Amino acid sequence: MPHPNPQARGLFISFEGIDGAGKSTHIAGLADAFRGQGRTVTLTREPGGTPLAEKLRALLLNDSMDPLTESLLVFAARRDHLMNVIEPALARGEVVLCDRFTDATFAYQGGGRGFDLDVLGTLERWVQATPAVGEGALRQPDLTVWFDLPPETAAARLADARAPDRFEAQPLDFFRHVAAGYAARAAADPTRFARIQADQARHLVWQQLTSTFVRRGWLSIMVPANSGPR
Ligand code: TYD
Repeated sequence: MPHPNPQARGLFISFEGIDGAGKSTHIAGLADAFRGQGRTVTLTREPGGTPLAEKLRALLLNDSMDPLTESLLVFAARRDHLMNVIEPALARGEVVLCDRFTDATFAYQGGGRGFDLDVLGTLERWVQATPAVGEGALRQPDLTVWFDLPPETAAARLADARAPDRFEAQPLDFFRHVAAGYAARAAADPTRFARIQADQARHLVWQQLTSTFVRRGWLSIMVPANSGPR
């Protein structure tokens, strides 16, 4: 039986990609893999993750607003989430698996909506300077898993999905800009990003994902391909 390791260092991992990239099922599989190795996992998402941030999420996904309002609400939700969920979990040595984080803001508000990247950079510095990281530093994910998928493929997948939210309902061209936004963030910080080719069969995506974690020494064995999400 694996035992929780009280000495374990907290790990902050975010998951990114355009809508329809298939990340949600893989995040759940990864949470199981970490728990199977004795780690405590906090599974969370943005926008959201706290009662206040979930209220902001509902507004963001349903109400129309201008891009600055949208960016301010996203970062307000993020601050609440960081202070009340992410930082405390990291301080306890947990693995935080976060479905989207700030790269999504640069991709969707910056790339998709064309909003000012300098303003987003300023908000990032305000919001992610948490007391836990110390003077002058920013809280960033230890790793960002980027499910990279051609926007055309994502659009075809989304066409079969449930009723779209305000972002999912955007035209293909919006997602081309979002994808370019992700590519730019990955190019600017290549050591933080792990790019997963998401236009493959689910078990092959799972294999890429687990090998990324094994390579970093965060999962100690190669998790068999068939133990991932269905
Ligand atoms: P998503 O995380 O994909 O949840 P679901 O799988 O339930 O649809 O939905 C969140 C949406 O919010 C997604 O379309 C991207 C968007 N978003 C932004 O525009 N900016 C952000 O900073 C974040 C975190 C998300």
